[in-house]
Amino acid sequence: MKKVIAITKGDGIGPEVVNEGIKILQTLQKYSEIEFEFQEAPAGGQVWKETGNNLPETSWNTIQKADALLFGAIGLPDLPQGVAESAILKIRQGLDLYVNLRPIKLYDALRDRCPLKEEFIGEGIEIYFVRENTEGLYANIGGILKDQVAQNLMIYTREGCERIIKYAFEFAKKMKHSKVTSVDKANILKPSQLWRKIFHETAKDYPDMNTEDIYVDAFCQWLIRTPYKYQTVVTGNMFGDIISDEGAFLIGSLGMASSGNIHPGKVSMYEPIHGSAPDIAGEGIANPIGTILSVKLMMQESFGQMELGAEIEAAIEDALLEGRTADIQNEKLDTLSTEQMGTLISEKLQNRLKK
Ligand code: NAI
Ligand code: MG
Repeated sequence: MKKVIAITKGDGIGPEVVNEGIKILQTLQKYSEIEFEFQEAPAGGQVWKETGNNLPETSWNTIQKADALLFGAIGLPDLPQGVAESAILKIRQGLDLYVNLRPIKLYDALRDRCPLKEEFIGEGIEIYFVRENTEGLYANIGGILKDQVAQNLMIYTREGCERIIKYAFEFAKKMKHSKVTSVDKANILKPSQLWRKIFHETAKDYPDMNTEDIYVDAFCQWLIRTPYKYQTVVTGNMFGDIISDEGAFLIGSLGMASSGNIHPGKVSMYEPIHGSAPDIAGEGIANPIGTILSVKLMMQESFGQMELGAEIEAAIEDALLEGRTADIQNEKLDTLSTEQMGTLISEKLQNRLKK
């Protein structure tokens, strides 16, 4: 099986962490049946400075023709906010990437880095947020009237709700989860009322799956009180943005969190959730694990390679027992550079795939 991967390294620490993601893809290629062709698709601040376009036509063509996109992060401190970053929205909208999948998993080795007390971590944290990525308040319908009144419209369509909720149930089934949690604000918001109705209509097609509804304000509390109770959590665009960031805070470092912007069956985009981190760019200390976990998601969600994805994750867990980047460092272990961390994970992956 041969797959074409478009590569957007981006700005700041983007290229540093993406290089380690490529290292993992190369290791997979060497020790499994899968083959990759890498095609660079520059986007973001640096390329905007060079060409006046944050997503040049050639990059966009490359991305559209690829099987998947591995994306670093974009944004430069000397550019106004949005000049670089709007390229991300162009890609998400252009490819209709309606699923934002954000896994939150606390590895045993990092339990001491979790800000929660042991009793609240309980059996452990492994939550998969499925966020609607195209509708709602972020669809950018609205404006500011004469500097006096501002509005954004929260619009949800039946089609938009159905496709994301169905994805969540299918995902939960694939992951052998026993429950899907829907987060909304149906006591106040009309779009949430439609959402909730469609959630329960869809649930009828999955009679073996338990379901629950939670209001978003209550969920924010339960997420830090009983995080071990959640498996697949499906929610709208804005709530998903906020609760998945809260979740990312629980796993030790922003540098650990991965994501997929997905349209099932079409080209999808995988990226760490962090930004270009100008404060540490060029120092070679950024944590590449969020990017490597994004490669894992790509294998599983775009290429159906569940086993290879699981091996990547296991290799990360093996590596965390030996060395770590500065953001998750442990005084008993070696503190590693970005490159050393990627190499260690790649070695662990080799050991597993050789067996
Ligand atoms: P940021 O995520 O870049 O950094 C926040 C803090 O986390 C910083 O102290 C940084 O050093 C640290 N950090 C981030 N990633 C890390 C890693 N892998 N290892 C270790 N530490 C890490 O967020 P910030 O500072 O708000 O944004 C910087 C730029 O990135 C801005 O231009 C922003 O617009 C852009 N951005 C881009 C995103 C994207 O490309 N998808 C997402 C978020 C922000
Ligand atoms: Mg956010």
